[in-house]
Amino acid sequence: VTGALASELADVVGPAHVLTARDVVAGYEVDWTGRWHGRASLVVRPGTAEEVAAVLRACAARPIPVVAQGGNTGLVGGAVPFDAVVLSTTRLSELQPVDEGSAQMTVGAGVTLSALQQHAEGAGLAFAVDLAARDTATVGGMVATNAGGLHVLRHGPMRAQVAGLEAVLPDGRVISRLAGLLKDNTGYDLSGLLVGSEGTLAIVTSARLRLVPPPAARVTALLGVSGTEEAVARTASVWRAGIGLEAAELFYDDGLALVCSMTGLAPPFGRRRPPAYLLLECAGPQDPTAALAELVADAADSAVAGDARGRAALWAYRERHTEAIGAIGVPHKLDVSVPPGVLPRFAAEARRLIEAAGARAVLFGHVADGNLHVNVVGPDPEDNTLDGAVLRAAVRHGGTISAEHGIGRAKTPWLELSRSPAELATMTAIKAAFDPAGLLNPGVLLPGPPAG
Ligand code: FAD
Ligand code: MLT
Ligand code: ZN
Repeated sequence: VTGALASELADVVGPAHVLTARDVVAGYEVDWTGRWHGRASLVVRPGTAEEVAAVLRACAARPIPVVAQGGNTGLVGGAVPFDAVVLSTTRLSELQPVDEGSAQMTVGAGVTLSALQQHAEGAGLAFAVDLAARDTATVGGMVATNAGGLHVLRHGPMRAQVAGLEAVLPDGRVISRLAGLLKDNTGYDLSGLLVGSEGTLAIVTSARLRLVPPPAARVTALLGVSGTEEAVARTASVWRAGIGLEAAELFYDDGLALVCSMTGLAPPFGRRRPPAYLLLECAGPQDPTAALAELVADAADSAVAGDARGRAALWAYRERHTEAIGAIGVPHKLDVSVPPGVLPRFAAEARRLIEAAGARAVLFGHVADGNLHVNVVGPDPEDNTLDGAVLRAAVRHGGTISAEHGIGRAKTPWLELSRSPAELATMTAIKAAFDPAGLLNPGVLLPGPPAG
C-alpha cells in the first residue's frame, strides 16, 4: 500500500516531497519532549491547498489516517503519527503582503511565528501572540492548538487573532473564510471551530490574522518574591495601575537553579536566592519604565531593563526552563490553569503530591492567566499516575486540565474531568460531521480507535 500511495502522492507533490527513507521518517515520529513515539508510513509535504486536497483524497480512498505536523513543538503528543501518513505543512509558507487598511495579513499554515512577527514588523505592525518556540512553531500548529503564550493577559490567545481560515476537509473539499470581515453573521463560525481542533477536523492551509500597533516603549522587570502569593498580588497591582502590563511570568528557585546549571547563566541576584521570581513586562505608547520601577521599588531584589539586550537577558531565565527540564529527563508536561487567586494553594499541593511520590517537580507559568506548567520528571513515560493526580487536583481547585497546550494524546483519558457528557457528545458529533471516516488524527483530542 505504501509504495502505491507514495507514487500516487509523488505525482501530486513531486517525488522530492514524499519521504519514505526510514531514517528521515523517524524524525517525524517522535515529539519534542521525547515522550511520544509513533510510526508513519510516509511523510508528504504539499506546497498548496490544492495539493493538500489531492493528498487527502488519495489517503481517504485507501483509507489511511493523516496527521498534520507543523513545527512539531506541541507538548501533548498531538502531532505524532500512529500508523498514519504525516502531512507536513512546512512548505505552506506563503506570506502575503500586510493589508494596512484592515491591519490583517494572510499567511500559509507552515509559516513560523518568527517569520510572521518579522513580516508584521516590516509593515510597522506587530503580531500579538509570542512564545519561546517562535523559530519553529507554525501558524497552523498555533491555530490548531489555540496557542496561548506570553501575552494572553493583554491580547488573548491565538483564537483572538484569527479573522478567518482556509482549510481542507478530509474528503478534499476546501472551506475558505479569508476575507477578514469584522462583521459576518452568516451562521456557524467554522474558522472558530477549527481553532483548538488539533488536526482532528480539517487541515488548516492559510490563516487571516489580526495585527496590533507596536508599542513605542517596552520595559521588563525581574523581581525576587517570597512565593506564589506575592507574585499573584504584585501582578494584580501592576495590572490595575494601567501601565500596559503585557506579560507576568512566575518561576521558582529550583527552576532557576536548573536553568543556570544547564545553560551556564549566572543567577540574576548573585548569592541572594529568593524562593520565587516574577518577570513583568509593560509596553505602550508612553514609556512605562518609571511607573514600573516605582511599583516594584519595594521588592528586596529586582532588575529592570528597557533595552533589547537587557530584556532578553532577563527573559532567558524564564524562557529556557523548557529546554533545561528536557535535559534532565523525559518530562510529563501538565499544563493546567486555575483561578489566579487559587494558584498559591494549587501550586503548593501539586508540588507536595509530586514530591511525595518521589518524583521531581519543576513548576513555572503565566501567573496572570492562572496557568501553571507542572513538569514531572522521574516516572516512566507510560506511567500516568501523577498525571491523573495533578489534573484531578487542578479541577478540584476550579481549573481545567489544559490551559494552552491542548489535549493531544497526553490528556484524552482525563477529558471528562473538564467536559460534561453533553459537551463530549456534541464534540463527537462535530467530529463525525467533519470527518465521518475518522481519518484525521485518530486518537487525538477525543479518545477513539484508529481508523482504517
Ligand atoms: P505541531 O506540534 O506540529 O502540531 C500541534 C498540533 O496541531 C497537532 O495536533 C497537529 O496535528 C496540529 N496541526 C499542526 N498543523 C496543523 C494544520 N496546518 N492544520 C491542522 N492541524 C494542525 N504553547 C503555548 O500555548 N504557549 C507557550 O508559551 C508555548 N511555549 C513553548 C515553548 C517551547 C520551548 C516549546 C517547545 C513549545 C511551546 N509551546 C507553547 C507549545 C507549542 O509551541 C505550541 O503548541 C505550538 O502551537 C505548536 O505549533 P507547531 O507548528 O509546532 O505544531
Ligand atoms: C512556556 O510557557 O514556556 C511553554 O508553554 C512551554 C512549556 O510548558 O514548557
Ligand atoms: Zn506556557
